[in-house]
Amino acid sequence: MHVIYHQDELIKVLRSLPRMAFVPTMGNLHEGHLTLIEEAKKRKDHVIVSIFINPLQFNSEEDFQKYPRTLEHDLSMLKKINVSFVFTPSENDIIDKSNTIQINLPEIAHDLCGKFRPGHFNGVAIIICKLFNLIQPEVAFFGKKDFQQLFLIKEITRQLNYPIEIIGIDTIRDQDGLAKSSRNNLLTAGNRKKAPQLFEIMNNMKEKVIEKSMPIKEIEETAIKHLNGSGWLVDYFSIRSAKSLQKPLHDENHMIILGAATLGSVRLIDNIEFCIHH
Ligand code: PAJ
Repeated sequence: MHVIYHQDELIKVLRSLPRMAFVPTMGNLHEGHLTLIEEAKKRKDHVIVSIFINPLQFNSEEDFQKYPRTLEHDLSMLKKINVSFVFTPSENDIIDKSNTIQINLPEIAHDLCGKFRPGHFNGVAIIICKLFNLIQPEVAFFGKKDFQQLFLIKEITRQLNYPIEIIGIDTIRDQDGLAKSSRNNLLTAGNRKKAPQLFEIMNNMKEKVIEKSMPIKEIEETAIKHLNGSGWLVDYFSIRSAKSLQKPLHDENHMIILGAATLGSVRLIDNIEFCIHH
């Protein structure tokens, strides 16, 4: 495994190699990330993983500072599973103060998580474009756990004509249903026990949508009220079309329920994708 710390070195190394499969991450690797890497290995002999905690996508300095940093451990995990390259640049190497170019994303970037984290997806978009330009992968893997992020990256790739295939991978969960996330490590023991409620309530909502036993808006409101009443602080719960992320049409088949809520000081997100008719 070759660990690359500077973009100049990356450019030199990649010049003589065929296009690879790419898995971008912010480190503190868990089974979710490892699954993306396993899928990437199935597609290409050489996989490149990036580890970069992107300051542009955090909404507060505090959130950025407390993000878990476990580079040594991450590198030893990646070595074990035979990743070819790891790109882990310093902040100065990849983002400098002269970077003033902004990406004007589609409207949906300002809805759902974008509404509660202004500028978040712009920060994601900029780092992903930088990494795509430097690495020029043939295929890149992203988790459906961050469904809105995946949706926007597919849009960026399409609208900016990146010749890169984007593949979405199903969410990996703990046994109790909680989606694996680097942020789970920040939960207190008590809140860790409570955290699976987020996915449980989404499953309840899904049943109600399929049964059509309640109007969509009421299903959303009931879930929000329930979680707020049990110690969470809900940002949103929304039932959408999985294809467009817009409000579902009345005969919509492929649906997704997306939600974000804070427990203690930890903001968790999750979603559940389903079809009404099989
Ligand atoms: P990070 O949170 O480290 O996640 C890296 C990738 O792993 C993302 O595509 C994410 O959706 C995926 N992932 C996280 N948890 C997962 C789970 N439980 N199951 C399946 N996949 C999961 O997302 C980011 O980093 C950043 O925004 C990034 C894309 C790297 C840009 O900075």
